[in-house]
Amino acid sequence: SPKNLEGKKVLVTAGPTREHIDPVRFISNPSSGKMGYAIARAAEHRGAEVVLVTGPTNIPVPLNVTEIRVRSAREMATAVFEHMEDSHIIIKTAAVADYRPGEAAAHKIKKGADEKVLTLQKNQDILKELGARKKDQILVGFAAETQELEKNAGEKLVRKNLDMIAGNIVGESSGFETDTNQVTLFYRDGTKEPLPVMEKDAVAHILLDRIIGIKN
Ligand code: PMT
Repeated sequence: SPKNLEGKKVLVTAGPTREHIDPVRFISNPSSGKMGYAIARAAEHRGAEVVLVTGPTNIPVPLNVTEIRVRSAREMATAVFEHMEDSHIIIKTAAVADYRPGEAAAHKIKKGADEKVLTLQKNQDILKELGARKKDQILVGFAAETQELEKNAGEKLVRKNLDMIAGNIVGESSGFETDTNQVTLFYRDGTKEPLPVMEKDAVAHILLDRIIGIKN
């Protein structure tokens, strides 16, 4: 691909977050990091300076990409806010936990009662905060949905003040863990662009093409 992101700093988030209940247990989701890493690699190929803030994954660090490994949503927030100001493009592919256990136990919780109640506390919405602080950055979100993709993605686009959102249906060849994805891109002007099922690497390049289009 052309080096059409030279001189640009691109901040990408990937993977799940882990919200610990105790030192050996956590709440998480099936995000593998594949989609976010594909975007990081594609941006690097195009000459961008890439910072990848990622939850726990098993994917090797892409060449020439600055990888920052985090675990919880709170750690991800700190790393993202540190890099937001001088980033030109921010793409939030991470599947961030909306809630965390109210307080993580310092030691392994022992088996006892037949029933246990876990109280959850809402995490900060990192992307919404980025939308509120946004100056010149192009801000792109993802939405993984099991139903009403257009409605849910469209609402997130507006509520979080994004320039574009990539909606993916959670399914057998799309969404979490798969090598392929089926994405519909939704734009600020209300238009949408449905893409066929394709490799996540190909989705990443189309996403970047469209982002560069927004810029110009
Ligand atoms: O990692 P893979 O296995 O390749 O899977 C890819 C993916 C399915 C995880 C990815 O393509 C995807 O859709 N990521 C977003 C998952 C999601 O459901 O996001 P959400 O609808 O909970 O959140 C919407 C947006 O807000 C996302 O950009 C998310 O990063 C952001 N968010 C959400 C909650 C929160 N507390 N902070 C956030 O920044």
